[in-house]
Amino acid sequence: MAELTFLEQLDVLAEAADSTFEAVRTPEALEEARIEFLGAKKGKLKSIQKQMGQVEKADRPAAGKRFNEIKQAIEAQLERAILRVQTLDASDSDVPSGEIFDPSLPGNACRLGHLHPITQTIEELKDIMGRLGFTVADGPEVEGEWYNFEALNIAESHPARDPLDNFYLATANSNSGLPRLLRSQTSTVQIRVMESTPPPVRIISLGRVYRPDTADATHYPMFHQMEGLLIDHQVTMADLKSVLRLFATSYLGSEVHIRFRPSFFPFTEPSVEADFRWHDEWIEFGGAGMVDPNVLEAVGYDPEQVTGFAFGLGIERLCMRRHAINDIRELYRNDVRFLQQF
Ligand code: PHE
Repeated sequence: MAELTFLEQLDVLAEAADSTFEAVRTPEALEEARIEFLGAKKGKLKSIQKQMGQVEKADRPAAGKRFNEIKQAIEAQLERAILRVQTLDASDSDVPSGEIFDPSLPGNACRLGHLHPITQTIEELKDIMGRLGFTVADGPEVEGEWYNFEALNIAESHPARDPLDNFYLATANSNSGLPRLLRSQTSTVQIRVMESTPPPVRIISLGRVYRPDTADATHYPMFHQMEGLLIDHQVTMADLKSVLRLFATSYLGSEVHIRFRPSFFPFTEPSVEADFRWHDEWIEFGGAGMVDPNVLEAVGYDPEQVTGFAFGLGIERLCMRRHAINDIRELYRNDVRFLQQF
């Protein structure tokens, strides 16, 4: 048999590459095919190239042109095969190479997600508090100092306003020119609601708050709070305790004891830390108290006419207790293997 000419060899090579890359279905086969045809040292393309020197001088330009065309075609084959292997990989397809694709078979079921555990907790809290007559109010996460501090009776000199303890924004409010920050508490919504509605008020507000804490098992620079506010005639601490006890009993599923420890918040007087008794342990769930008369005045309410209570509970804490999660960071790692348990 006569020896193949350079051009004929190129054609044979092109055909072989075509069928080889076309059949590639796995990363391993892809790599094999790449080395076989495009390998820098022993690749088939390379060894043909080396024969270029033996081509008659007059034929060389045509041979070179053809060689480059074939080389580009093979490289394009490689690109297509890479894409194909990636898509097959992403769709978890286990159709082995060469197997016939049967479109009448049921497709791959796609994995169904579900609500994040914190979102589930929020929905449940809304449900429980809704049964107690509380409606849901909302407020922005980027706030001015009036809502986050001033109207809440937190004076300019109060350490809670320290820039190191808050996420102040680099840009001021474009209308007022006043500083802005990520809210550090949902108590902002108390003010927003009271400013826009006359008493009586009975709301909860659930959302994100931000503090520059270093993340550890119990801290995270972003977390969620549930704020509660009830304003009416002759509201007392007994009402506060009853509501929190009913809430805790509903959420934790059995009769729960509540304990108030004296505390201080500029916007409540008196102020308490609320603890729930659960599994023979006292667990702190948040702060509460009777709304300070200064706050009522700041929003234009008459403290001689109405009184009220407010509370702020940590939602992560409630969620973590319920599900025995012992590290808050797990909630925000976005690891599906963790999240799909709930
Ligand atoms: N805003 C307080 C905090 O974040 C909690 C609180 C809310 C206390 C309402 C009293 C009344 O710590």
